[in-house]
Amino acid sequence: MQKYNFYSTYTKSNSFVPYYYANRMSTLQLIHKKDELKSILSALKSKGKTIGFVPTMGALHKGHKALVDKASSENDLVVVSIFVNPTQFNNKEDLALYPRTLDADLALLQTIENGIVFVPNVQDIYPEKTSFKPFDLGILDKVMEGKHRPGHFDGVVHVVHNLFEIVEPTKAYFGQKDFQQLAVIRKMNAHYEFPIEIIACETLREASGLAMSSRNMRLSEQEKKDALIIWDTLQFVKKNKAIYSPQDLVRKALSYFETGKLVLEYLEIVDVESLQNSEDWNSQSVCCIAAYCGKVRLIDNLLL
Ligand code: PAF
Repeated sequence: MQKYNFYSTYTKSNSFVPYYYANRMSTLQLIHKKDELKSILSALKSKGKTIGFVPTMGALHKGHKALVDKASSENDLVVVSIFVNPTQFNNKEDLALYPRTLDADLALLQTIENGIVFVPNVQDIYPEKTSFKPFDLGILDKVMEGKHRPGHFDGVVHVVHNLFEIVEPTKAYFGQKDFQQLAVIRKMNAHYEFPIEIIACETLREASGLAMSSRNMRLSEQEKKDALIIWDTLQFVKKNKAIYSPQDLVRKALSYFETGKLVLEYLEIVDVESLQNSEDWNSQSVCCIAAYCGKVRLIDNLLL
């Protein structure tokens, strides 16, 4: 039996809705309409309740669940959005193949007692009349993911901006697996002066070391084994940091990576703040890798 309630059950009387949510938050709720969500949240905020927000594109796994659990424990209410954002895919096939698994997502979240799952439609997220003004992400959009997925971060900024405006959370939670995305979100949060605390959460891994990702659903068992070259290479880099300069270590790591079967897109050692290639080890660095395992594009990183 699914424990979550379909929100439409409660929408018959608009005045009842905020009262219901302001006073009882004991079951996971599913909401599709932006205005319904906003009226519930404003009733809660007027009572001084805190809102944690976990934006997702669905196909939820234990990594997402860890974000939601953290947000649930740190706030009075957690909102999880599920929206496969078309504007951040620069490859139509990737968008079409992105897994959509709403029933399984809701089942994974059903133990969350103070949660709302928000599943909007495209018109609610991208209304014709919009106050959104894009801004220049500078270097963040020109390296690594930005270089290989033109327009991707513009799409991420746009959707997260619009979601932040709808939810107006106290805190928003993002995984460190998308290291560059996190830097972009921090920059956009500051740029638009949202009073939101951005919380970075550690990457969750399978016992094998494979970083949890919605894209892993598209990997065969053999491909999951092949994909481990990413984690092995990241560990190789960390182990050899004391021996080589960043530039030499990148060369060594490339040779190591090539012993596997994946097709590399990039392997870089960059400064955690500027995302520029590290010249030395004087400031903290992170090694970032993107590679294709068959048709599936995977990314991962490790702080050094
Ligand atoms: O990381 C993701 O799943 C997406 O990029 C996000 C932040 C939900 C925006 O669509």
